[in-house]
Amino acid sequence: MEETGSIIPEKYLSLSVEETAGRITRRRKELGHNLVILAHHYQRKELVDLSDFRGDSYGLSRRAAQQEAEFIVFCGVHFMAESADILTRDDQKIYLPNMAAGCPMAEMAQIGDVENAWEGLEEILGPNLVSPIVYVNSNAELKAFCGKRGGAVCTSSNARALIEWGLRQREKVLFFPDEHLGRNTAKRLGIAPGEIALWDPDLPLGGNTAEQIMNARIFLWKGYCHVHTWFSTEHVTAVREAYPQAKIVVHPECRQEVVDMVDGCGSTEFIVNYVSSAPKGSVVVVGTEINLVNRLASENPDKVVFELARSLCPNMFRINSRNLLWTLESLNEVNRVRVDPSLKADARVALERMLRISETRK
Ligand code: 13P
Ligand code: SF4
Repeated sequence: MEETGSIIPEKYLSLSVEETAGRITRRRKELGHNLVILAHHYQRKELVDLSDFRGDSYGLSRRAAQQEAEFIVFCGVHFMAESADILTRDDQKIYLPNMAAGCPMAEMAQIGDVENAWEGLEEILGPNLVSPIVYVNSNAELKAFCGKRGGAVCTSSNARALIEWGLRQREKVLFFPDEHLGRNTAKRLGIAPGEIALWDPDLPLGGNTAEQIMNARIFLWKGYCHVHTWFSTEHVTAVREAYPQAKIVVHPECRQEVVDMVDGCGSTEFIVNYVSSAPKGSVVVVGTEINLVNRLASENPDKVVFELARSLCPNMFRINSRNLLWTLESLNEVNRVRVDPSLKADARVALERMLRISETRK
């Protein structure tokens, strides 16, 4: 992966939001069909307003794969831009307007630790008993690891379909790096608590006995998103008391005890649809990143929409319209995301499996 330019030049810092938006609009006109701007739902409003498409991780991966444009600017975090690079042609160029916008959860599973886990599992279970399923919030190396071993990528909107698929291929699934998405999905699939093993990469055999490994159907990597594990049962109880008529909807990266208490749980796109299809006058309380919650509130003035608690993703927030302008005015010089070519083919296999399985489930 090539990292270029993460510090914005000083000349951009004094621009007002209006001036910046005006110059971005000009640059978009100049580049025409050669440019596409994608924005994740957690991005600031100023960026969503300037994008061609907004969406969740799954929707934006699909969008990226469909684009013909030479320049694709991804307003999101690093793993999203990497996935776009894997899914597009070699002559298309992917940009992340601030290269420091990473995802801490993606760093919680490192390739060496995952290889050790895989070896530990094979020592006890023998070969070909485990499907590796990696959450899209992960580095390209892990996607390639899964592609090479008969596994696949998933996002929060299709984790259920992909884990089911993994269990049809082989007896067990190794799911990484988000424990909570894995646990919430396993519950929806009816996997009993005794068949779920937590894998702590810092402990021998992930902290499990050989017997626990043999009995488990799914191994959950001990990773989490700090933005979503912030929401607590106390937050839900407080809202229920103050607004008994409210519907509460959360993202599946939240802890299971929170998910068990609420009315709806799904990807950011699911949450957007949940709020927009709620009846006029309803109160909807949302447990996800605050930029999305604030936008939902302003885009649904006929409803009362507010946050379960305030939680901001500092990495998504690292991108603003000045970073976008700088990138658009310096294409070929800065902020290009390039996945190591030796990883691309295998990582693509894993991502394309996800796209195919999600499509056939519709
Ligand atoms: P979505 O898959 O819902 O877009 O979520 C991505 C993410 O990073 C959530 O924290
Ligand atoms: Fe990563 Fe959580 Fe931010 Fe999503 S919200 S990018 S999982 S830290």
